[in-house]
Amino acid sequence: MFMALSDRLDLVNPSEIRKLFDLAQGIEGLISLGIGEPDFDTPEHIREYAKEALDKGMTHYSPNAGLMMLREAVAKKLKEQNGIEADPSREIMILTGANQAFLMGLAAFLRDGEEVLIPSPMFVTYAPAVTLAGGRPVEVPTYEENEFRLSVDDLEKKVTEKTRALIINSPNNPTGAVLTKKDLEEIADFAVEHDLMVFSDEVYEHFVYGVKHHSIGALNGMFERTITVNGFSKTFAMTGWRLGFVAAPSWIIEKMTRFQMYNSTCPVTFAQYAAAKALEDERSWKAVEDMRREYERRRNLVLERLNGMGLPTVKPKGAFYIFPRVRDTGLTDREFSELMLKEAKVAVVPGGAFGRSGLGYIRISYATSYEQLEEAMDRMEKVLEERKLV
Ligand SMILES: Cc1ncc(COP(=O)(O)O)c(C=O)c1O
Repeated sequence: MFMALSDRLDLVNPSEIRKLFDLAQGIEGLISLGIGEPDFDTPEHIREYAKEALDKGMTHYSPNAGLMMLREAVAKKLKEQNGIEADPSREIMILTGANQAFLMGLAAFLRDGEEVLIPSPMFVTYAPAVTLAGGRPVEVPTYEENEFRLSVDDLEKKVTEKTRALIINSPNNPTGAVLTKKDLEEIADFAVEHDLMVFSDEVYEHFVYGVKHHSIGALNGMFERTITVNGFSKTFAMTGWRLGFVAAPSWIIEKMTRFQMYNSTCPVTFAQYAAAKALEDERSWKAVEDMRREYERRRNLVLERLNGMGLPTVKPKGAFYIFPRVRDTGLTDREFSELMLKEAKVAVVPGGAFGRSGLGYIRISYATSYEQLEEAMDRMEKVLEERKLV
């Protein structure tokens, strides 16, 4: 059956997170642990580069695929940090945020009704992007017992003749899970065996704690079937700049560029200039390490406090989220979140917002100051004790 884009848009619901934030409106003294963005400002030298670009007159369109100087800087970064060799003129493209990569990337190859495997719990964009692109999102559960790492056994149970692609996200939003090199090698073998395209969302790559990030696109024979997705939002605390990038085989980039041509035309030119300069400036990487260290300190605090108050919590190895189990309190994740909003004045996100495997958990973002996190943990603990929920 033919479905226009407007029909597909009707199938996609506004995110659950929005609903919670509507409830949170107007609550005085609220501490929000719901937001998925760095609380840090963009480092000063990067802001200066944007001003410099404006003064240089970089106020015009860039090529559809992005400024060549940025594509070249991204190519260098991918080679040095990720072991991925991509040609900046054919295999790299700049986007208006990593978020765009999914719909645009799927539009490059997905045919009507084809299936896309998505490990659950998952980042909120993936399933709607598949639906909008005319495909069918298929949730693949991940489990607390396996630290929410995706396993090939679980993938095997969901793969069919219609499966065309797989989306992985390590470090993971919302669980903080990080896939090991061995996990990725097994997933790569699975993708080759079933002839799947792989989206690898690596936007949290620099925020890992005691483990190393690996890119599946660097594994033998994987470049030709991988769309590596990354961006500047999390790495350099640049969410509002709206800049992301992909590395993929040229036939994918060519189609995505066509999409961009008729959509946003190109990302913001002076922002691209600043990002290119930022990638090559040591001060940026020093800022990333400072942020990483601070996130780790906060992760340690929240992990200890949650386990201490009787909410069993897996130690997240990356990103800036933690995913405690709340179902043992006798409340659903939605009820738990509403209770915390009303009685503790702390906003957390019900795990069900991230897919079926998130039910019974909540997501806490620790991209908030250490002091606020301490206060939020005190308040949550008090409500749990008063209500005798643990
Ligand atoms: C896993 C994941 N991928 C992609 C994005 C989108 O990033 P961008 O701001 O570059 O669009 C986010 C933002 O929250 C995210 O958590």
